[in-house]
Parts: sequence; C-alpha cells; structure tokens
Amino acid sequence: MSANKILKIGKHQPKLPLIQGGMGVEISGANLAGNVAKCGAVGTIASVGLCHASPHFHPEKHNYFEANVIVIKEAIAKAREIAGPDGIIAVNCMVALTDYDTQVRAAAEGGADIIISGAGLPLRLPDYTKDFPDTALVPIVSSAKAASLITRHWEKKYGRVPDGFVVEEPATAGGHLGAMTIEQVYDPALSLERAVPDVVKYVKEEMKADIPVIAAGGIWDRNDIERAFSLGASGVQMGTRFACTEEGDASPRFKQAYLDAKEEDVVLIHSPAGLPGRAIKNPFVAKYLDGQVESKPCFANCLTHCKYRKTRETFCIAAALVDAFNGNWDTGLFFCGSNVVKANKIEKVADIIAELFPD
Ligand SMILES: Cc1cc2nc3c(=O)[nH]c(=O)nc-3n(C[C@H](O)[C@H](O)[C@H](O)COP(=O)(O)O)c2cc1C
Repeated sequence: MSANKILKIGKHQPKLPLIQGGMGVEISGANLAGNVAKCGAVGTIASVGLCHASPHFHPEKHNYFEANVIVIKEAIAKAREIAGPDGIIAVNCMVALTDYDTQVRAAAEGGADIIISGAGLPLRLPDYTKDFPDTALVPIVSSAKAASLITRHWEKKYGRVPDGFVVEEPATAGGHLGAMTIEQVYDPALSLERAVPDVVKYVKEEMKADIPVIAAGGIWDRNDIERAFSLGASGVQMGTRFACTEEGDASPRFKQAYLDAKEEDVVLIHSPAGLPGRAIKNPFVAKYLDGQVESKPCFANCLTHCKYRKTRETFCIAAALVDAFNGNWDTGLFFCGSNVVKANKIEKVADIIAELFPD
C-alpha cells in the first residue's frame, strides 16, 4: 500500500484524501455528510431539492426556492454539529438548477468550506461567492478541455482559478453523467485512466498551479484509491458506497434497492436535464425505457432546461428522486454508480473509512 496523499483544497485540509460525493435528492443530507466529516474525510451535502420534506416548504405557496435557502443553511449547521469543529463540510450544487445561484449563495452564507459544482460548466460560480473568500470552489469536469474552459473564464472575469477539480468518469459514476450522449458515456477519452493524467498535466503545465485533482467514478476499495493515486490524483470522491450506509440519509428501502441490484439492473437513461444518467431498472425506469412512463406533475420548476416541462417528454425528475429517497420502488428514480452491484451489506461510515485508510 502506498502512502496517502495530502489533499488540500483552498484553505481546507481533511485528514484523509477522500470526499464523499454529493448525492441528491437528500441521499447525502446532513447526517451522511456530518458523519463522513467526523471521520476525517470531506462530507458533502447535495443541495438539490433538500427542502422537499421540510416544514418550510408549502407547495400551495410555491415557495420551493425560498425554502431551499433555509434548509441548505440548516443542513450545513446540522452536519457541522455532527462532525465537530475540525470537520470539513462541502455542498454540491448543480449548475443545471433554476435556483443554482441562490443555492450557491445559501451554501456560502451557511458556512460551507467547499462548494463542488457540476452538471454543467460552473462559469459564474466565483461571482456568486465573491464575499466568501474562504469558501473553496471545485468544479466537476470530465476532461482537461472543460477544466481549461472554466479556468480561462474565471481568470479573465474574476481573477481567480479553481481550488481543485473533481474528474468524474461517466462510464462508472452515479447520477447525471458528464457526457453529451449515451454513446459518449463509454468514450475511452473520458476514462479516469485518460482524463485524470490529462487534467493533472493541464494543472501543472498550463495553469502552473498547485491544486488537487480528485478522481471520481467507480472507486470502491483501496485498490481503486491506489489506482487513482498512480494516475496523479491527490484524492478520490466516492458516492455509491456511501449511499448504502447506516448514516446515509435515504430510506431503508432505497438502500435495499442497492443491495438487490444486479449487473443487468443497472441502466443508462436520458434525464429531463438533457444529460445521460445511471440508475437501477425498477418498474418506473423499465416503463420509461419502454416509452410508457407516467410522470407525476412538475412541482418546483427546478431545472433551467427541463424536457418534461417543455414538451412533456421524459418525466418530473424532482418527483421521481423524492420518491426514490422515500423508498417508493415503483415510482422512484434510483440513481446509482455501476459499483452498486458490489453493495452487499449496509455498512457504517467509520468502518468503510477504516478499511480504506487503515492507519
Ligand atoms: C444516488 C446518487 C445521486 C447523485 N447525485 C449527485 C448530485 O446531486 N450532484 C452531483 O454532482 N453528483 C451526484 N452524484 C454523483 C456522486 O457525487 C459521485 O461523484 C459519483 O457517484 C462517484 O461515482 P461512484 O458512485 O462510483 O463512487 C450522485 C450519485 C448517486 C449514486
């Protein structure tokens, strides 16, 4: 086993070179993020739709966006309380959201140490956080080209560069994938083997910066971490394995779906956001793939570009993700990474971290 790398993101240095990836809707809420941070890794709250079950959200008042602001701040405070004073808490905000700017501001005002942002290019992220210089900003990319586009834009417009990059591999990751089409998901140029060294080279040779590159997608055990280190990554981000933990915020039925999933159950779909996504083929997804899905009504207008809202193609993703969180097997969208087939027990966060980082 090689020595651990040091992961320093802006002013923040977790004890371990590990980030638990943000997983919406509320698969990684305050409890998961707080417990991961308590163990010395970065715990990440996914900001998307966090208010869905909160007493602040009154659908009849159409106050989804206002309620999200309150709940994001509450979640950061709760995660911090669990994590203790040294815990590092990140918030994951998706560019594709209608209230992206408001969610980012809420995360910064709520005291997030790091904002991690993908599902689109976070070109205006520094603008939304300009009053919070200690909040580190980390775009999620799938290639050096995307890293360079973001960096050049930030330097020119805001005079700053990213504090790190998460390089996420579409062939294995969960949730929305950084590829334009389903075919592109398996493009070898977007594999960790190609994209991580490419981004590392870009950071060193063109940016001439000392910022970390963090590998995500398909990381499950220590061998995967060693592989990421050997590609030049300074840390890893893991999603699927942490979704299926005791501390994971989703319902027990969500976790059971992970335990039951077999290779043939893991499929790619076109999401209403216009991106491919990886999910478990439950009755809802099977019907969708068959062209027969019945959507629940749009309840929040949550995506800037939503195929369902525009043309009634696809489905209301917010409703489907909330159903998955609640464990509604027939109607939910159960996002997962390809490693979901390895989930065979509900683990404790501390046990996973002790296995991955034994000393
Ligand atoms: C259930 C689920 C929900 C996710 N939701 C988000 C999200 O809201 N925003 C985001 O940037 N990534 C999201 N992801 C991606 C993860 O943060 C992580 O980067 C990815 O899953 C890493 O691959 P792994 O699952 O193989 O470890 C999600 C993943 C899963 C499994």
